[in-house]
Amino acid sequence: MPGFELFGADERKQVNDVLETGILMRYGFDGPRKGIWKAKELEAAISKQFNCRYTQLVSSGTTALTTAMSALGIGYGHEVIMPTFTFVASFEAVISVGAVPVLVDVDDTLTLNPEAVRKAITPKTKCIMPVHMCGAMADLDALQQICKDHNLLLLEDACQSIGATYKGKYLGTIGDAGTYSFDFVKTVTCAEGGAIVTNREDVYIGSDGFSDHGHDHKGVDRGADLHPFLGFNFRISELHAAVGLAQFNRLNDFLATQKANHTQLKAILAQVPEISFRRILDTEGDSCTFLSWFLPTEQITQEVVAELKAQNSWGGNFYWYEHNWHYIRKWEHLKKGLTLNSLHPEYKAAILQQVNKDFSASDAFMSRGISTQIGLTWTAEQLKEKGDKMAAVIKKVLAKQQISA
Ligand SMILES: Cc1ncc(COP(=O)(O)O)c(C=O)c1O
Repeated sequence: MPGFELFGADERKQVNDVLETGILMRYGFDGPRKGIWKAKELEAAISKQFNCRYTQLVSSGTTALTTAMSALGIGYGHEVIMPTFTFVASFEAVISVGAVPVLVDVDDTLTLNPEAVRKAITPKTKCIMPVHMCGAMADLDALQQICKDHNLLLLEDACQSIGATYKGKYLGTIGDAGTYSFDFVKTVTCAEGGAIVTNREDVYIGSDGFSDHGHDHKGVDRGADLHPFLGFNFRISELHAAVGLAQFNRLNDFLATQKANHTQLKAILAQVPEISFRRILDTEGDSCTFLSWFLPTEQITQEVVAELKAQNSWGGNFYWYEHNWHYIRKWEHLKKGLTLNSLHPEYKAAILQQVNKDFSASDAFMSRGISTQIGLTWTAEQLKEKGDKMAAVIKKVLAKQQISA
């Protein structure tokens, strides 16, 4: 999903605008910056394209999550429901605000299973945080209904799914707040950066202040700003925002390329009847950063992975079940509670209890699933060669299975 595949003159021009003024900070210095406000420009562009009221840029997707949770009032005594398949940043952010991450099974959508979410609700539940993994959506209708029934917040981690939609609305803009990441391997990258989007004024004001030491940003003199609450420095720099602006302006082109390549690759793999595909709840809205597919059993999947590696054809594929950063199974540091700072024993016990539950329902999908990253610069020949090689390997493994069965 990386925008880094397509860097060019636009990115250089935007960065040069900033370098020419020498004002690398997003706030203040109104005179010398000569009207160059890249962070503000990018915020306005995101709000406009995604039809949401507010966007607050920050230093990363991780700090976007921490900021959004703080602005939503999530913290001590609260539980946040999140999926077993995500990036470690999701639970890091929950822990950063002092809440307990409650991990819940995913299904064939590779996102939260709404029934499992309902079962996980307790009097302490404050928020449901779906993670729109690999470019496509969680079941937002069902999750919104659950939030309504139980008076819960909905925070969408859309860090991997910028530009994807659900029933015509951009992911991230549907819940109380949503987040994006612009790290180096995202659809739109600025090296490191993130954003919070929201239609709630209070969440925007909270995010704006919290990400800049609590500054209220009401005047033109930073030193005279008031601090209505405590915050941190999670600011984005003008240089990063400049790169992000150039990339964001190209988002629609990136998405169009991804969709075309995704359609073709899927058509090749669909010729193998034993392959099934991730259930996408709104195919129109899939940003198509990945094509995610399932094989009939874990053993076949393991053998396909091994064979693709042996044939040097594994590049760009991900078997999340064995991945250290994206699935509960390998999060030893979380499962053992290995923090550097000391935690209150009761809080630590609550986390450990939640993260060491039985997640076999997730395993049933994750152990059979592979995601193929969709390239932006593939030629038609490269795409066909890649798809044909993958299909041949899968067929070979399946044939071997049938012989030995
Ligand atoms: C689902 C998800 N959430 C949050 C993040 C954190 O974003 P960042 O790397 O910008 O901190 C990532 C990054 O990979 C992610 O995939």
